[in-house]
Amino acid sequence: MAFGRAEAQAILEEWTKGESLRKHGMAVSVCTESYGRREAERLGLGGDEAAEFVDQYASAGLLHDMDYERHPSLEEHPFVGVKHLRELGWPEAVLNAILAHADYSGVARESHLERALFACDELAGFLTACALVKPTKSIMDVEVAGVKKKMKDKAFARAVKREDITGGAELLGIPLEEHLGNCLKAMQERAGELGLA
Ligand SMILES: [Fe+2]
Repeated sequence: MAFGRAEAQAILEEWTKGESLRKHGMAVSVCTESYGRREAERLGLGGDEAAEFVDQYASAGLLHDMDYERHPSLEEHPFVGVKHLRELGWPEAVLNAILAHADYSGVARESHLERALFACDELAGFLTACALVKPTKSIMDVEVAGVKKKMKDKAFARAVKREDITGGAELLGIPLEEHLGNCLKAMQERAGELGLA
């Protein structure tokens, strides 16, 4: 068995029947993948090595909430999913990133993948919420300035933790505005797939 995004997508669909949680996994995946591509370039990776590296980012995004529908409690999520993935033989880099996205797992965010997944999780949800309040429901109509404004509006998408978005940018060592722009662009480029065109 290979361990790439096609396998990750299949596992996500097997474990998660709800459309919005599937879409969340996909949205986080496209954002995380975009950071994987940047990091691969920074490291000077090429060919198969780069493709495999970026695939780990995309897979971690797809799989980070794979067990949430069946096992939403703090005792089980994301531990049940990680246990299953470990039995299948998924690389530890992906498993650690999934564990580290949960504050309470005790796994520190150290690798670039661990930091990128955390940084993209809440933001992808927030950008989706920003798109869904547009008359067109399209991510193409969302702009960074509007996202920044909505972040200050406490009543909007109340469940999304603003401090995780700003903290994510800090973890990645980039300004908040750049992080918003990177993820927005990544989602716009794949809007059709995400159902946000
Ligand atoms: Fe998530």
